[in-house]
Amino acid sequence: MENMTFVLFGATGDLAKRKIYPALYNLYLDGKLPQSISVIGLGRTPLSSEDLQAQIHEALNEFSRRDVLRDNVQDFLNKFRYFIFDAMKEESYENLRAFMEEREAELGIPDNRLFYLSVAPRLIDNIVKQLDASGISRTGGWRRLIVEKPFGTDLASARELNASLKEVFVEEEIYRIDHYLGKPMVQNIESLIRPNPILQALWDHKQISNVQITASETVGVGSRASYYDKAGAIRDMVQNHLLQLVMMTAVHHERKLTSDQIEQKKREIMESINPVSDEDLQNNIIRGQYQAGVVSGKAVKGYQDEDGVEDDSTNDTFFAAKLCINNEHWSGIPFYIRTGKRMDQKSTRIVIEFKQDSDAEKDVGIVSNLLVIEINPNESVSLRVNVADHSSEKFEPTYIGFSKHPGHQPEAYERLLYDGMIGDSTFFAHWHEVELSWEWVQPILDAFANDEAPLHTYPAGSTGPDASHELIERDGFEWN
Ligand SMILES: NC(=O)c1ccc[n+]([C@@H]2O[C@H](COP(=O)([O-])OP(=O)(O)OC[C@H]3O[C@@H](n4cnc5c(N)ncnc54)[C@H](OP(=O)(O)O)[C@@H]3O)[C@@H](O)[C@H]2O)c1
Repeated sequence: MENMTFVLFGATGDLAKRKIYPALYNLYLDGKLPQSISVIGLGRTPLSSEDLQAQIHEALNEFSRRDVLRDNVQDFLNKFRYFIFDAMKEESYENLRAFMEEREAELGIPDNRLFYLSVAPRLIDNIVKQLDASGISRTGGWRRLIVEKPFGTDLASARELNASLKEVFVEEEIYRIDHYLGKPMVQNIESLIRPNPILQALWDHKQISNVQITASETVGVGSRASYYDKAGAIRDMVQNHLLQLVMMTAVHHERKLTSDQIEQKKREIMESINPVSDEDLQNNIIRGQYQAGVVSGKAVKGYQDEDGVEDDSTNDTFFAAKLCINNEHWSGIPFYIRTGKRMDQKSTRIVIEFKQDSDAEKDVGIVSNLLVIEINPNESVSLRVNVADHSSEKFEPTYIGFSKHPGHQPEAYERLLYDGMIGDSTFFAHWHEVELSWEWVQPILDAFANDEAPLHTYPAGSTGPDASHELIERDGFEWN
């Protein structure tokens, strides 16, 4: 890996402490950082480099998946410098440039620069313009820009944000983070199917009856009400994570694909999803909101009674939909997606359900086969099969599979930061996917904003509104 400068905007923020520093440290432990790297943390808070290093050390103790090793942590921390910086002030950039060049000279490294924008989206337009105006981003080596979510709040704002980035950077230099794409099981979908002829045989689309993607949480809105009450499940989870999971599941890997081919296929999948019609808004899109209930044996408030939420809020804390992908592989195979807060369990999973003979003996317990890819909190793959129980003369559904211990796996941010450093954008969200996702979502946002789609309620601790069960039962299936 080439030596570089890693410029972290938002070095004093929550994300840096919880995810970015632990990820860098674990990459360091694995020998996956460049031999020489200058990491420059930026923020307005007056700190010295030693102060930042002490904060990073504390963050590692709290959030690193592996123990902090006393004999090498200082070597890791020495790579960091702090620079007091106000993104809205022009002179900050001139000073940063001088500081960065000095450090490059001190370490004898080329001007390869990776800019990580872990700051509020409202700062991004100015940061990008000033990076260019100050010459910081005009490097002799390569330059890359990592951008955090949210990428816009609707189609228009996403396009505006993208236009700002494109004034200075080209698409190949822009790495939009969707941390679901960094999760091991999502990255493994391709490597699970392609080298395993037995699974490839199952992946014959003629055998699949439907695909279900669930991302459920038991937590409520917590302390994020001011953001969440405006965003809703649709912006927080659907436009980005769930649609990315749909794309990753639907990519057909008949052979090993390059990063560009995967990007192209994901784009084609989004282009072949039916746009949302008025009929879909009434029948195939379910908006829900939790009411008071019981989660893990504890009574919890309804959404409208949460601190920071409007009493008459119609915000969606649950979303479910049926999608149809009109291409040669998936035509006629429905994809059902759902996500919700305050559900009965925390689980992100992809379930492929296989066709069952219409004359199967359901009365003796025979059920359809399922391939279950569990992404979070467990990482596992299992296959549901029917096993005869000779004592009862019935069949029992039994899961055969394997699971990995999440603690031993690199975290999503480790994988994504590493990819950003080596210049591999396979598991980042590319602009066309993002734009097409917003295009699909926009009519739903409009309908929700104008209250043109029903708002269903569900008790906290349940599996969501009845309407979401009716959505799938209408087609003869049930949520798995
Ligand atoms: N936290 C998460 O779990 C999470 C998850 C996914 C995405 N994100 C996204 O990641 C980004 C950062 O989130 P966060 O939770 O870390 O936010 P945060 O805790 O509020 O931190 C914001 C950072 O921005 C810096 N900042 C604010 N105004 C600035 C200015 N004018 N000039 C320079 N620096 C400035 C702050 O530093 P000073 O106050 O020192 O200036 C701080 O380091 C956001 O876009 C967020 O949506 C966060």
